[in-house]
Amino acid sequence: MKFLSTIATLGLAVTASCTPKPGNGKLPTKIFHGVEVVDTQIVRDAQAVIKDFDPFLKHHSLRTWLFGAAAINANATLKSKIDLELHAVTCILHDLGWDMTPGSEWISQEHRFEVDGGLGALRWVKAHKQGKKWDEIRLEKMYDAIALHGSPGLSPGKNLDVQFALTSIAFDNPGARNPLIPEKEYNSILAGLPNEDIGAGTNQTWVWLAATKPGATYNTIVEPFGTAFVPGYSAIGHRVFDLINPGFQGSS
Ligand SMILES: *[C@@H]1O[C@H](CO)[C@@H](O)[C@H](O)[C@H]1NC(C)=O
Ligand SMILES: *[C@@H]1O[C@H](CO)[C@@H](O)[C@H](O)[C@H]1NC(C)=O
Repeated sequence: MKFLSTIATLGLAVTASCTPKPGNGKLPTKIFHGVEVVDTQIVRDAQAVIKDFDPFLKHHSLRTWLFGAAAINANATLKSKIDLELHAVTCILHDLGWDMTPGSEWISQEHRFEVDGGLGALRWVKAHKQGKKWDEIRLEKMYDAIALHGSPGLSPGKNLDVQFALTSIAFDNPGARNPLIPEKEYNSILAGLPNEDIGAGTNQTWVWLAATKPGATYNTIVEPFGTAFVPGYSAIGHRVFDLINPGFQGSS
């Protein structure tokens, strides 16, 4: 009996240390575009990172955070389980790899945009006064969510934090309101941060990526944008397909 109760106690301790309470209840919040969001220094500073981005990109990044926060607020289970500060920073910084500012510190020549975004966010968080306290698991969740967000279909099997960051990012895909986002908050977010330019802005960014660093776009979601719209762009010879079918002439 003693043995069993020791095991039971250990079990509880292990569960508690594997799934630390995110401490959401203790975080300061504010109302932003009609949505209650966490308002810590690192979340404020993450917003400052993207404040001079193209308005389409800045608004897209903020909408993913706010749509996600509105959906989380509407579900007590999600609100108690998701690390809200991690969610905020991940969403706000998820598209650093789309920054078309000349000489952008976030853009590499060799990496696809999701990796530029993930590496940039890691660099930034690790250098931040509060971010220095983030543990490896939190950093890895942020990186994973950003790195996976351009490859639809990979979220099953990931932890809830990564899954819901991916869900939040997808909330801003062109199309109708996802029913997980309450209508009132959806409308107040769009009133402040209109989304009419999301399709054209994404298109322009991906055409730019295909034109300026084609080698980082083959075998990615960006490739067809290069094929369709960038003169001289050809993925043929660079695709995984070509490894298996070298010299195949039947495709264009
Ligand atoms: C809240 O979210 C959880 C996890 O996604 C889901 O299983 C549950 O059905 C949701 N609850 C409500 C009331 O929507
Ligand atoms: C995408 O960009 C190409 C090249 O600039 C342009 O021809 C096309 O109309 C754009 N599509 C959208 C939806 O903006």
